[in-house]
Amino acid sequence: MLSENELWLLSFYRSSEISGALFFGRLAQSLRPGHIQRDLTKHFADESAHAWYWTSCIERLDAKPLKLNEVYQDQYLEAAGMPVNIMEVLAITQVFEQRVISQYSVHSQVPGLNPIVRETLQKIMKDEKWHIEWIRDALHEMEEKHGKELIEKTQRKFKEADREVYQHTMSEHGERIREILHANERLVNGPT
Ligand SMILES: [Fe+2]
Ligand SMILES: [Fe+2]
Repeated sequence: MLSENELWLLSFYRSSEISGALFFGRLAQSLRPGHIQRDLTKHFADESAHAWYWTSCIERLDAKPLKLNEVYQDQYLEAAGMPVNIMEVLAITQVFEQRVISQYSVHSQVPGLNPIVRETLQKIMKDEKWHIEWIRDALHEMEEKHGKELIEKTQRKFKEADREVYQHTMSEHGERIREILHANERLVNGPT
């Protein structure tokens, strides 16, 4: 049985993966064929699969996903401004993917996790690692065209936006994780 906090977290991941799939899908549609479009296609196929893994995980745990209204991808664009070229899109995506993987990794380390949740987190984290890698390589290739300095500056700008969005909208993730941590500790150690 999922607690309220767990159901919120899994639903939050599910909506975020759906938005990711749509975002990268649209991007892949607008680009010319080439290796970036190829990797983007695999990327959005992965995010779609992740949305399904969370849907199926919630279902296997006898629950129904919550409808969450805050889509933080939108907030990113609001805080950082619309990316103006593919380099900027990849830079913002890199920062965003790092945030996602750190949330999954913190969650996967909570003791006493339901095995179905743990298995889903681990399966997804493998793909998320590849997302960070291909984007890092693509940004590296773009140094010739845009210059290393500008790319690094762009990444710093988006990192700042990420911190801002995190503080305003995503800190709920951290709070919910802390609550399941405490609940699981109480289960192991008894009430304090
Ligand atoms: Fe994902
Ligand atoms: Fe991803």
